[in-house]
Amino acid sequence: MAILNIVKDGDEILRRKCRPVENITPRITRLLDDMKETLHKANGVGLAAPQVGVLRRICIVECEPGELIELINPEITEMSGEQQEVEGCLSVPGKWGVTKRPEKVTVKATDRHGNSFTVEGEGLLARALCHEIDHLDGIIFYDKCVRMLSPEEIGEE
Ligand code: NI
Repeated sequence: MAILNIVKDGDEILRRKCRPVENITPRITRLLDDMKETLHKANGVGLAAPQVGVLRRICIVECEPGELIELINPEITEMSGEQQEVEGCLSVPGKWGVTKRPEKVTVKATDRHGNSFTVEGEGLLARALCHEIDHLDGIIFYDKCVRMLSPEEIGEE
């Protein structure tokens, strides 16, 4: 496995739309392994392939330590409720903002073995799933922020 470089805000790769994965090749499974290692090193909750320079519809989330979810070609199939919480992004260091997200989502995706599965997320997991899937369409969290935190508020976090 390898630690990958995380693309930072301002790089146009973060604004591109990712292509679906058609075949799960060894290159894709190695990418998933490397993304996991990169996420752990960065102490993040989620990471999307474009954040490591790969324009494919792949992301990972880990809201509870050890409960990593790998999603290939994820799609939100249901959403309900609303939450407004503080969010940040490994590609946007030092910035935090309050986003409006659904409280619950259902996401359909494919795993690394090619099996389709469904994950239901609530609270932080719902937010993380929405955030990472947004990355696959070139959307960054602050595009959806109700307001950004001030430097004083960040200092208190
Ligand atoms: Ni992000």
